[in-house]
Amino acid sequence: MNSWDDQLNLGIEELDNQHKNLFLQITKFARAYQAGSGKQAAPEILEFLEKYVEEHFAAEEHYMLKYGFPDYQNHAALHREFYAKIIAYKQEYYSQRGLSSYAVSKMLEMTLKWLLEHIKQVDKQYGVFIKNKMEKSLQ
Ligand SMILES: [Fe+2]
Ligand SMILES: [Fe+2]
Repeated sequence: MNSWDDQLNLGIEELDNQHKNLFLQITKFARAYQAGSGKQAAPEILEFLEKYVEEHFAAEEHYMLKYGFPDYQNHAALHREFYAKIIAYKQEYYSQRGLSSYAVSKMLEMTLKWLLEHIKQVDKQYGVFIKNKMEKSLQ
């Protein structure tokens, strides 16, 4: 998958834009990997993900709390899990002064798969819930 699929949109602009940016940066990393420079591109994507994912998760969690989304705790736990994986890759990178080709390919596969599945299956749930609440509050 190389381009953004509109079916991934939640209809909440701020969060959709963040998802698109995450997707864009990961696909940029995928292109670097395919061109043989995955190892060199790894620290940049890890730095980006650490910072951006934290901001994105905080934004989502803020929306969920604001609108009283009932499954907030479980959703937030999935965020913490992903964040911990990114930190673990980062630590591996800095403790070993680089990542093996195998680790780079696993990281790419994990991040892309996680992002798409998380949006489709998990983010969609609060998306529908919050959109409903937003529409009701406009009536
Ligand atoms: Fe998300
Ligand atoms: Fe999420």
